[in-house]
Amino acid sequence: MSDQNAARPDGEGRPAEKARELVAAGLRGLFATDPTRGRRFAHSLGGLYVDLSRQLVDDEVLALLLEEAESRGVLAMRDRMFAGDLVNVTERRAALHVALRAAEGDRYLVDGRDVVADVLEERRRAAALAEGIRTGSVRGAGGAPVGHVVVVGIGGSHLGPALVCDAFGDLAPEHLDVRFLSNVDPAAFARATRRLDASATFVVVCSKSFTTDETRRNAAAVRRWLSERLGREPEPDAFVAVTARPQVAEEEGFAQDRILRFWDWVGGRFSLTSVVGFPVMVALGPDRFEQLLEGFRDVDVHFRDAAAEANIPILTGVVAVWNANHLGCSSRVVVPYSTDLALLPAWLQQLELESLGKRVRADGTPVGSETAPALWGGVGTDGQHAFFQWLHQGTWPVSVDLIGVVEGRHGLPEHHEVLLANLLAQGRALAFGRSAHELDSGGDGAEGAPDLVAHRVVPGDRPSTTILLDRLDPRNLGRLLALYEHEVAVQGWMWGVNPFDQFGVELGKELAVRARELLRDGVAGDDADQSEGVDSDRSDVPEGSDIADPATEALVRWVRRSRRQSRSSS
Ligand code: F6P
Repeated sequence: MSDQNAARPDGEGRPAEKARELVAAGLRGLFATDPTRGRRFAHSLGGLYVDLSRQLVDDEVLALLLEEAESRGVLAMRDRMFAGDLVNVTERRAALHVALRAAEGDRYLVDGRDVVADVLEERRRAAALAEGIRTGSVRGAGGAPVGHVVVVGIGGSHLGPALVCDAFGDLAPEHLDVRFLSNVDPAAFARATRRLDASATFVVVCSKSFTTDETRRNAAAVRRWLSERLGREPEPDAFVAVTARPQVAEEEGFAQDRILRFWDWVGGRFSLTSVVGFPVMVALGPDRFEQLLEGFRDVDVHFRDAAAEANIPILTGVVAVWNANHLGCSSRVVVPYSTDLALLPAWLQQLELESLGKRVRADGTPVGSETAPALWGGVGTDGQHAFFQWLHQGTWPVSVDLIGVVEGRHGLPEHHEVLLANLLAQGRALAFGRSAHELDSGGDGAEGAPDLVAHRVVPGDRPSTTILLDRLDPRNLGRLLALYEHEVAVQGWMWGVNPFDQFGVELGKELAVRARELLRDGVAGDDADQSEGVDSDRSDVPEGSDIADPATEALVRWVRRSRRQSRSSS
């Protein structure tokens, strides 16, 4: 029993009662009553082992959650998703990313038409181009064999390929350097073009919509940079567009055989397994990309066919909802004990928060409960020396995903063992903590310092899921990412939100356009020297400007004043 558990469940009904009961029992209590839960709440899938035993759930809770999943139509939505129905209701389209992993002989319908042949054909085209780059038959912007590939794209057009390329960077050929340019920050551009050989540079412009401002500006800047360095126009064949709007790319001058296509029934953050994965094919080779897809496919089949009680993404999805709604978890913290997976939290952050950061159901009515908590994380063991203190002794309820790899592939086996031991230790500490009684019985050197007992107690009962990969290879990574993709959809359907849209990001994009105008044109009182409290009116400021609120105005004034000052002092 833990009287210090951060979770304070409230509400009525059997789930709320159960939550109170389980919080009172604590994980120690649950393991004491059922020592078999370490095995019973764990599931294997290919080379993956997913242990849910340290979640604050028991058989009854899982049964309740699965009942709820059934009654909320989660299983029906899953079946409709695989059938190519318009499950992305607000954008009136399918969400058929599972078709992207199709193999010969599979069948996936969109609007009654089998799309598998198109998927395989685009994948084949992408693979051929990637091979051409890898073997030197495709040339860079100035005609030299390709040595650098700059991938311009943001969000879903960046995070997935960046994660996979980074995970297996050591397997990329020595002569090929694949780098990503996402942010519109000139610093990002400077880094992406640092020590780049223009003549040997190949450019991938990846954008589902082909209208994203950051990507358009960066793509244009890279093109200009190459022209300047080469002293002539870069070879058109050294640019490829990856997009769901091939006609826009064509209008912008991309050659037809340099346009790789995917479809509007693929959400950006679910698009890695489309030709958005082209950089992976280049860096790691088409065969490894195929292995990644096999891993995704393994989990697709499992998600589609396994009974709910043994269906891993359904279980992890309903448990995530339990943590958010019944245990009040404010954060979900993702900790890969693998430097190769350092970008996993960023990829998952977009997947989960863009999908589930919603307050109304698909039909527009309020959700009526919390939806996804914040998701963030970082690699172990580094995180242990940074934010783990907060996990262990902070006051907010939080759930943690610990991800480990059994067989290292970088030598130093002893280091790898230490890494794995740290994962095991942290899982245990998060779950069971250390009580005052245990401190008393010694072993931690606290004897003789009774005044520090309260400081040293670690309450435990931080629910965690441990995911082990027998090895980190493309197939297992595919399995891991697919588990999360489907888990996110399950959570969305539990809440009744549409996990496939992202209307909330539009406002900021629109206001950024207006904010640029303010930076250029100024705001009222702009020319005044405010340090002397003098204000003057500007007649050229648009009336009723929707962005010129007092805070924005003050910020714009400060920016413009600071610019004037640095101009006059230079
Ligand atoms: O941030 C919004 C968003 O639309 C994401 O959903 C998407 O992944 C990203 O922008 C990039 O969009 P695109 O691939 O169309 O450039």
